[in-house]
Amino acid sequence: MVDTTTIAQRLAELRRKINFHNYRYYVLDDPAIGDAQYDRLMRDLRRLEEAHLELVTPDSPTQRVGAPPAAGFSQVQHRRPMLSLANAFTLEELQAWHRRVCNLLDTTEFGLACELKIDGLAVSLAYRNGVLEQGATRGDGAVGEDVTQNLRTVRSIPLSLQGEPPPYLEVRGEVYMPFESFRALNEERQERGETLFVNPRNSAAGGLRQLDPKMTAARNLQVWIWGLGDTAGYEPPPSHFQAMEWLQTLGLRTNPHSRLSPTLEEAYSYYQSWVERRHELPYQVDGVVIKVDSYAHQETLGVVGREPRWAIAFKFPAEQAVTRLLNIGINVGRTGSLNPYAVLEPVVVGGATVKQASLHNEEDIQRKGLRIGDWVTIERAGEVIPHVVRPEKERRTGQEREFRMPQNCPVCGTPVVKPEGEAMRRCPNASCPAQFFELLKHFVSKGAMDVDGLGEKWCETLIAQKLVKDVADLYYVNRNQLLELERTGDKLAAKIMASIAASKDRPLPRLVFGLGIFHVGSEVADLLAQRFPSLDELSQATSEQLMEIPGIGPKIAGSVTAYFQVSHNRRVIDKLRQAGVKMRQEAPQRPGTPGLPWQGLTFVITGTLGAMPRREAEARIKALGGSVTDSVTRKTSYLVAGESPGSKRDTAARLETPILDETAFLEMLSTGQAPQESRR
Ligand code: IVH
Repeated sequence: MVDTTTIAQRLAELRRKINFHNYRYYVLDDPAIGDAQYDRLMRDLRRLEEAHLELVTPDSPTQRVGAPPAAGFSQVQHRRPMLSLANAFTLEELQAWHRRVCNLLDTTEFGLACELKIDGLAVSLAYRNGVLEQGATRGDGAVGEDVTQNLRTVRSIPLSLQGEPPPYLEVRGEVYMPFESFRALNEERQERGETLFVNPRNSAAGGLRQLDPKMTAARNLQVWIWGLGDTAGYEPPPSHFQAMEWLQTLGLRTNPHSRLSPTLEEAYSYYQSWVERRHELPYQVDGVVIKVDSYAHQETLGVVGREPRWAIAFKFPAEQAVTRLLNIGINVGRTGSLNPYAVLEPVVVGGATVKQASLHNEEDIQRKGLRIGDWVTIERAGEVIPHVVRPEKERRTGQEREFRMPQNCPVCGTPVVKPEGEAMRRCPNASCPAQFFELLKHFVSKGAMDVDGLGEKWCETLIAQKLVKDVADLYYVNRNQLLELERTGDKLAAKIMASIAASKDRPLPRLVFGLGIFHVGSEVADLLAQRFPSLDELSQATSEQLMEIPGIGPKIAGSVTAYFQVSHNRRVIDKLRQAGVKMRQEAPQRPGTPGLPWQGLTFVITGTLGAMPRREAEARIKALGGSVTDSVTRKTSYLVAGESPGSKRDTAARLETPILDETAFLEMLSTGQAPQESRR
């Protein structure tokens, strides 16, 4: 008979060891053992726990990703408001802040805690008896959301504290995504044909708002603790800097670059040194935060509105550089749009070498008055692609050339067209190879036919090997042809063949979207398929019939009818039909139609959304099978709350309806995640 006490002791010992090594690795950045040894400890713990499930504790290091997906997030009232910071952009502004502080404190003798301003999301972590009890987002500062299960997956957040924590301890910090994880995530998304995240902050925000903690865990988020929350029930150290040192001894991850400066001059040198060195950091920082160190002084200074008078964010200047515009290149997009981009003399901006920058469109070039050969200022603001801000006109020599958009497609030579009222010129040739590559990528992407495993590289190869000349050819590729390709073995070929075959059954709106008809995004595709339940019917629709659909105007109607008039497109559709691709909806698409991920879910939208008009948001919800109503009732599945949400938000809070802010909503749309699956 096994002695349970001995096993419990062994479990406690393993957990203690693992927590200690987590602390060395994540908090002190000084691992005491190698990865293999660490993995062995984790494996031993896991095995022992599997054999003694009754002895598994929620704070065990094995329990980070244990929780099932949530239906939504409940609200958390912060015990103390989560404040924001006033900003300074110049030394003068910083000095003005300091003068005010000196006046109010009636002294110039006080320490300033100087810290990096991490560009992430503020969270509050509450520990009861040393065990992580609740993790919440900042929300509006007064009320946030309970994201405990997601925060548990952040490995640098200890599930249990070491040392002697007070019975209740609330700390606050910034959750962020390291650059490396951000790049890896975007690479994966690109492979899958999904939209890319603009910066690490957005992907961290999206990660924290996932309903399924497994999705959060995959984002590899991190935390830096920057302050105390509610301090009721114990006597904290007398100053911020000391408090941070104390938190570190409890196992919390505080930033090692923080300094205590006796004077403003030193605080300014701290700032300047980080203006230079910020790119050495493996995460995004957008300034430094300077805080009056003594808590007694902080108390005296108080808070105005939502901003404490005792702290200021001193922001870094925008990351700009001046370089030569060597040329303006043209990319041909999926719908044939000719997209100009700047070819630059390589220059280091924000720690990265930049050779290209985006130019948006022809009008943008004209508005800025750019000429080839100009010296130009470019800017990176945490985005992946930098942009050209302006030409440096005073540096012109007279050798610069005006830019003209090409009259012919740079890839296939077809004369380009510029439709009335549009900013873009287009290549009208649907078989243009550049266009076709983009189209194929789009056709196989997740939101369209979702051919699993068929990423950009495959599209390139299939086109290069002339196996696929239009999207329908995909369904005529055979296994032997795949086996002849380099590095394609039996297993891979079988997998790709299976994915292609599986995609024949996608719902009609996905096919309509996948065809890449100009102006037909996923939401429009859904509207079209609701009214015309087969591709045949849609292809025969007149502009007038199309315009009877609410939300479809002359531009879309014209584009759809034009698409089906092109004989090449009709041939492609015939080939798709013969290959067995589903072209008919079993029942007209209504909200709630089975088969779509959001079927049965009811959404209410309130406030202003920044990313899209409300009509589009509604259409996109419907495209995923959800329905949209006006008022919040017990039947409402989600309230989408934009800026200035008004009373619907209060009603939703009262009825405990899950509330999605815009970031969470966009994230759900972009991942096409099926929230109803998470409701079980
Ligand atoms: S202290 C009242 N320290 O910046 C003091 N904030 O723009 C609250 N942030 O909401 C903030 N790094 O999310 C503080 N070292 C740091 C920070 C930091 C990043 C964030 C925080 C805050 C926002 C204000």
